Amino acid sequence: MKIYSLIHQKGGVGKSTLTFNLANNLKNYCKICILDVDYQGSLYEIRESSEIPIYHISQLEEVRNSNYDVVFIDTPPYIFEGLETICDISDHILVPMKPGPLDMLAVKKTIQFIREQNAQHKASIVFNMVKPKLNLTEQIAEVVSTYEIPTTTNSISDLVVFSKSVLTNGVEANNNAQRQLDELTKELLLK
Ligand SMILES: Nc1ncnc2c1ncn2[C@@H]1O[C@H](COP(=O)(O)OP(=O)(O)O)[C@@H](O)[C@H]1O
Ligand SMILES: [Mg+2]
Repeated sequence: MKIYSLIHQKGGVGKSTLTFNLANNLKNYCKICILDVDYQGSLYEIRESSEIPIYHISQLEEVRNSNYDVVFIDTPPYIFEGLETICDISDHILVPMKPGPLDMLAVKKTIQFIREQNAQHKASIVFNMVKPKLNLTEQIAEVVSTYEIPTTTNSISDLVVFSKSVLTNGVEANNNAQRQLDELTKELLLK
């Protein structure tokens, strides 16, 4: 079993959306599920319309003892008791980040937390909601490259189809979004 968790203490960076899309992108290739650790619902609340199983935090042990090949864990936008365990049991930690000036500062708290768990060697930042033709993204990427957690080569654009994906069970109809997801998925599978 390979466990990926998406962590960032800031809300609205795309943890839940990315968790859902990455997991859905693998649903035809392996036995996959999502564990939703966010009490304020979100993914767990849409479990009935989801094509892949979505479990509640109270089912953590059940999921760990199951035969899923890959588990994606979505986490809330704050530190809570249990986040240390999630860091510990994860094979890889993904920190979605918007390429904005304030986001560049906000992410430092999460990086600090990951370092405190001594988990920086298995974490990476992924730029999400990247706007087209924004050289600000390049400037921010340059600063973020000096942080202790590497950035993934592939990033995800700001596209309406990504927001809608939780209702449509994926972005397959959109070539650009699907290609981005495929590239990121491939990169992550090698981690
Ligand atoms: N790549 C993207 N393109 C466009 N909108 C996005 C993208 N990723 C997330 N969103 C939207 O941004 C908002 C916050 O995303 P969400 O996944 O709920 O963040 P978090 O779980 O970190 O709080 C949602 O409205 C979601 O639909
Ligand atoms: Mg969320």
